[in-house]
Amino acid sequence: MNSFPEIINPVRILSASDKISQTPAFVYDETVIIDRLAALSEVRTNSGCKVLYSIKAAPLGGLLQTIIEYVDGFSASSLFECQIAKEIIGGIADNKGTIHITSPGLREEDVKSIANYADYISFNSMNQWQQYKNLVNGKLNCGLRLNPEKSFARDERYDPCRKYSKLGVPVSRVANENLQGIQGIHLHNNCESNDYTELKQTLEHICELLDPELENLQWINLGGGYFIDDAEQLHELEKIIKDLKDKYTLDVFIEPGKGIVGSAGFLVASVVDIFASDGKQIAVLDTTVNHLPEVFEYQYKPHILQEDPEGQYEYRLAGCSCLSGDLFGDYHFQQALEIGSRVTFKNVGAYMLVKASMFNGINLPTVNVLKSDETLLMEREYSYEDFRNKY
Ligand SMILES: Cc1ncc(COP(=O)(O)O)c(C=O)c1O
Repeated sequence: MNSFPEIINPVRILSASDKISQTPAFVYDETVIIDRLAALSEVRTNSGCKVLYSIKAAPLGGLLQTIIEYVDGFSASSLFECQIAKEIIGGIADNKGTIHITSPGLREEDVKSIANYADYISFNSMNQWQQYKNLVNGKLNCGLRLNPEKSFARDERYDPCRKYSKLGVPVSRVANENLQGIQGIHLHNNCESNDYTELKQTLEHICELLDPELENLQWINLGGGYFIDDAEQLHELEKIIKDLKDKYTLDVFIEPGKGIVGSAGFLVASVVDIFASDGKQIAVLDTTVNHLPEVFEYQYKPHILQEDPEGQYEYRLAGCSCLSGDLFGDYHFQQALEIGSRVTFKNVGAYMLVKASMFNGINLPTVNVLKSDETLLMEREYSYEDFRNKY
């Protein structure tokens, strides 16, 4: 869960970490996001695909405004995500970009509202399609989410094709279904992969089982779940998409999330206390694992920019909530930490802030964007009112 290739400029981030006046603070380095989007633009040009940003990874208004300039639209997983997508697209000059949604559990009232915001919907089951097709008829371009029945994710909790999967109509059964009115298919069966041959295998399987159906469809959405840092792998992706487009007259969409924002996000924290416990130095931070919930969820040790495995000073970094397991791990530093020292967690731009909570009444970090000229813009600051109004 921490396998990003290095594409960041540590000096730039360390300087921003020292400059920032208030911690804890999420910092998004805009140059990293733009760099990833430029790589995707090349894939789009070379392969003819369309690129969507999967909003769920980081649904921050300021980031969405930057991202929409480089993509063909947004992919959403709920009514609220569709709403914010529409707001952002409505706010840009040419008002262009499409909104795509898939969700396993849509209620009738959701679908009615979604029809006001989205352009494409991929129903998760034949039941949901049958139930809602008349509601969306003529309003949304309708597709079906497939379960490609090809598993790659190592952790079953993140494997859309796990046994008894709740996600999508099994590809081996689709050919038996009545697809009248269905214009596209959606798939998403990976997580943090750097290996596009897994996508190739998935598509080979789908094309084998659904060849005649694909002839009659308008589009295919290949989902997200892949990193976009490796140029060679991106060429592989281009080739996969070109081959698909050569075979069928399909619009091809991809919808990465973490690949665009994951390595662009940092959390800057400060040390608030240091003491010995059973012979170990504990450094308590002004943040908590509840600001980086995937650290706790996956029990992984996030990387820190200031750490040095060879450093002689060792600390257990602890979060400031009452939870005894609110710990980040043991780290070495070249210099002794002091109260006020900065600690910058890296690769935390995706799925962290959106899952973060105010457990214990601890305020959320501010959200900042580091611009290319090194200015830091504070986008969001949370307050007691946010805590009070939430519950
Ligand atoms: C349907 C769908 N599309 C796209 C994504 C984005 O995946 P990632 O952020 O790993 O690229 C997800 C993530 O859960 C997803 O469920």
